[in-house]
Amino acid sequence: LIKKGYVFHSDTDTEVLLNFIEDIQKNNNCPLEEAVRIALKRIVGAYVIVLIDNENPETLIAARKGSPLVIGIGKNEHFLASDASPIIEYTKEVVYVNDYEIAIIKPDELILKNLGNERQTPFITKLDMELAAIEKGGYDHFMLKEIFEQPQTIFDCLRGRLDADAGTITMSGIEKYADEIIAANRIVMVACGTSWHAGLVAEYIFEELCRINVEVEYASEFRYRNPVINKGDVIIAISQSGETADTLVAIENAKQKGAIILGVVNVVGSSIARASHAGAYTHAGPEIGVASTKAFTAQLAVLTMIALKIGYKKGTLNHDRYLQLLKELDAIPDKVASILQSTEAIQAIAEKYKDAPSSLFLGRGYNFPVALEGALKLKEISYIHAEGYPAAEMKHGPIALVDESLPVVFIATRDSFHEKVISNMQEIKARKGKIIAVINEGDEQSLSLADDVMVVPEADEIMAPMLSVIPMQLWAYYTGLAKGLDVDKPRNLAKSVTVE
Ligand code: M6R
Repeated sequence: LIKKGYVFHSDTDTEVLLNFIEDIQKNNNCPLEEAVRIALKRIVGAYVIVLIDNENPETLIAARKGSPLVIGIGKNEHFLASDASPIIEYTKEVVYVNDYEIAIIKPDELILKNLGNERQTPFITKLDMELAAIEKGGYDHFMLKEIFEQPQTIFDCLRGRLDADAGTITMSGIEKYADEIIAANRIVMVACGTSWHAGLVAEYIFEELCRINVEVEYASEFRYRNPVINKGDVIIAISQSGETADTLVAIENAKQKGAIILGVVNVVGSSIARASHAGAYTHAGPEIGVASTKAFTAQLAVLTMIALKIGYKKGTLNHDRYLQLLKELDAIPDKVASILQSTEAIQAIAEKYKDAPSSLFLGRGYNFPVALEGALKLKEISYIHAEGYPAAEMKHGPIALVDESLPVVFIATRDSFHEKVISNMQEIKARKGKIIAVINEGDEQSLSLADDVMVVPEADEIMAPMLSVIPMQLWAYYTGLAKGLDVDKPRNLAKSVTVE
């Protein structure tokens, strides 16, 4: 293009594509739609494009591959966005454009074609979402609203599935593949960020209840490193948005190699949900705050139900323990509500440590991923450096950081690792680190060691992360708030990472 005299004003591939399309249009003397089709057959990579021809401004030409595109159908108008939430204000009817489709959009007409110029029938989906779900509803920030929604979102996630009295869990998507999951040599959880942390908790739960080998993979690593995938391997893709590019490509690669793909996804109709063989939605409602909160606890609720269902069916989880765990899970929404009843203590701790330049988050067992999640939340919302670590691993390096200025957060609820966590706390205390601990009521050992505590109700250790993560979310929120930061839109971050 440069040789032909095109001048580029940026380093973006968007500008290259635009000029490429223009060049094709000139050379072939064809309409924009035709030029787009020719160009898209020749380019590689993921894209969403929307173009307007100056000569024909009433028509938009849009196309996607790899990145999401949703078209809202209004009355003599159409709306384009990367997911349905911004559209809901205008219409509840949407069309999810597929890869390699071109949309020709006029105010009163939507035509879909494939790259072979064949018409496709647009499949109209009715959105089951209310406008209120994407408004702040009296809260100062979406993040705070979403933290406080958790008793309801976990309840919604369990509703219609878990019947603790009858001793049943109904999940049709999972039931369809239950035999394959039981027979699988291994399950691979594939995800990014907070969803990856949910996968780590699920690894512990699945191994304990189902006795199936589980691996948890960063989608971005998994997709590029030529992993060994055997026919019958079960991949569980975990994603709030359902549009994370690395997770999407990772499952598409695994599907081609014969793996069964189950999606644990929040956004209904999203790309990952559609690319999965089956799965279970998390039903947490739209999550607008960039920091994931309610999606995480809903993912844990869904993954716990899947593990309970499979473990019981497989026989690795006995009847009494199964019934006990169903009751425990049923009680989680109320326990989350009780944490949220008074948040002043957590706000005071956030104020106290808001100027610390760095912090360490430690946990063991089921609470180790909560330590990672606590560190991630604090980093993204308050820009304070934070490191999450398995508590016992700190002796292998991070303990060198500890002095009287370093806040060290222990996720120390009573579980089978508690005694060990207490001795880790003693090691920090001996080095004069400041200890902040997430504990259960009446935990005298932790109280005697910690400088500050955040108290959560007791729960079976398998469910504990759904409770111990709540103070971590609130702490990050109040720290960001105390520092005057934009907690809903932290710098440099996007809600859906639709590019690799
Ligand atoms: O939509 P996904 O769950 O696939 O997103 C994965 C991560 O991008 C996401 O969890 C991210 O880490 C959040 N900002 C964490 O709060």
